[in-house]
Amino acid sequence: MSKLVSHPVRQITGEIQVPGDKSISHRALIIGAVAVGDTIISGLLEGQDVLGTAKAMAELGVKSTRDDKGNWHIQGVGIGGLSNPEEVIDFGNSGTGARLITGLVATHEIRMQVTGDSSLRKRPMGRILEPLGKMGAEVISKSDKKMPFTLLGTTDPKPIVYELPVPSAQVKSAILLAGLNTPGITTVIESEPSRDHTELMLKTFGADLSVKVDRSGKSRINLVGQPELTGQSIVIPGDPSSAAFAAVACLITPDSKLIIRDIGINPLRIGLFKTLIEMGARITFTNSRLQTGEPVADLEVSSSKLSGINVPADRAPSMIDEYPILAIAAAYARGVTRLSGLSELRLKESDRLSAIEVGLKSCGVTANVEENDLIIEGNGDKILGGGQIKTNFDHRIAMAFLVAGMGARNPISIDDESSISTSFPGFSGLMGDIGANIRQQP
Ligand code: S3P
Repeated sequence: MSKLVSHPVRQITGEIQVPGDKSISHRALIIGAVAVGDTIISGLLEGQDVLGTAKAMAELGVKSTRDDKGNWHIQGVGIGGLSNPEEVIDFGNSGTGARLITGLVATHEIRMQVTGDSSLRKRPMGRILEPLGKMGAEVISKSDKKMPFTLLGTTDPKPIVYELPVPSAQVKSAILLAGLNTPGITTVIESEPSRDHTELMLKTFGADLSVKVDRSGKSRINLVGQPELTGQSIVIPGDPSSAAFAAVACLITPDSKLIIRDIGINPLRIGLFKTLIEMGARITFTNSRLQTGEPVADLEVSSSKLSGINVPADRAPSMIDEYPILAIAAAYARGVTRLSGLSELRLKESDRLSAIEVGLKSCGVTANVEENDLIIEGNGDKILGGGQIKTNFDHRIAMAFLVAGMGARNPISIDDESSISTSFPGFSGLMGDIGANIRQQP
C-alpha cells in the first residue's frame, strides 16, 4: 500500500481538463459493442473501472483497439451478437461495469461467471438480479444475491414494466440494456430522476426510447426492443465528479482561481455545484454546448467564503458520488451543514457515511451521523487537519481527504493511493499542476 500526504498550500490556480466521465465511458463501450459497425470514442476515461469494462466486452467477443491518438475503436457485433466468455469476468471495484454488463448479457444465450474485488463482492446485486429474473435470466450464487455468481442469460426474454424501488441509474440501465435484446417494450418507472446517460446514448445510437412524466411526477422510460443501433463517433466530456475535487480545492484555498474545461453538466449530475453555489461558492459555467447528446461547459471557480446549509434528501441522486467532497467543503464553511437522506452512501465502494464521519473527526472537525443524515459543524476557516485516513480502497474518500489537506493547518495523509486510478488516473500530478503539494509518504 502506497501512502500519500497532502500538505497545506497557499494558492490553487490554473486551467485544466479532467479525465473523461466514468459513467458515459462505460456506456459508450457497452452500447458501441452491440451497435452495427464501428464506434469511435474519444476522451474515454482510461481508469481501472472502465478498462475492466473494455476487458469484459472483449471476453464477450467484442474487438476494440486504441489508436495512437488515444481514440478507441469498437467493432460492434449487433444486438444478440455477443458470445460466451471463456474466463470468469472480474469487474474489480466497478459496480457500474458489473451491473450494466450483467443487464446486457441477461437477455443473451450466454453463461457468464462474474466476480469482483472484496468491496464489490459485498455490494448488493439483488437490486438488478430481481428485475433481470423477471425478464427470464437465472442466477446461481452461493452467497445471497452478491458476487460471485453465474448468470444464465435467457433465450426467451420477456419485456417488463418495472418501478425502481431505489433511485439508481445502475439498476435502470441494467434493465434498459437487457431490454435491447427483448422483443416488445421494456418500461422502467422512476419516481426520483437519476442520471440519464444510458437513455441519451441509446437515442444517439438510434434506439426508439421515450420518456413520459405522469401526473404523479414519475417518469416512464419506454424502450422498444431489438432496435438496430448504428455505430457512432462519441466524444466523452470531462467527469463532473472528478472536476468536483479540483473545484473544492480552489474554493477552500485563499486567492485562488481555476478554469476547468469541457465538463459534463448534465442536470442530473450537477447537484454538487448547485449546492456549493447555495453555500456561497463563486462558480460559473461558460461556453455551454451540446456534445454527442450531452451538455458540456467550462467551469470557472474562485475561492469563496462558504456557509453551512441544509441539503435536502431529494438532491441525493444528482450528487450521490459527491458527498465525500461536499463534506470537506462543509467542514471549511461557516455554520452547520446537514446532509439528509444518505442511506445509499453505505452501499458504495465503502460505507462512505461512516468513512466521512470518522475521517472528519480525525481532522478535528465535529461531524455526526444521525440515522441517514450527516451533520457537519463547519470551522469557517482552516480545519485542524493532521488526520491519517483509512480509505478502504475507496477512491472518492482518498481524493476528498487529500483535498481537505490542502487548506488545513496540518497535512492529511491517506493509507493507500491505489484506488484513485479506478476513476481519476493522474490525480496527484494534475492537482500538483494547479498548486497542490501531494507527496508519497515512506
Ligand atoms: C452510476 C450510478 C450511481 C453512481 C455510480 C455510477 C452510473 O450509482 O454512484 O458511481 O454510472 O450509473 P447508483 O445508480 O447505484 O446510485
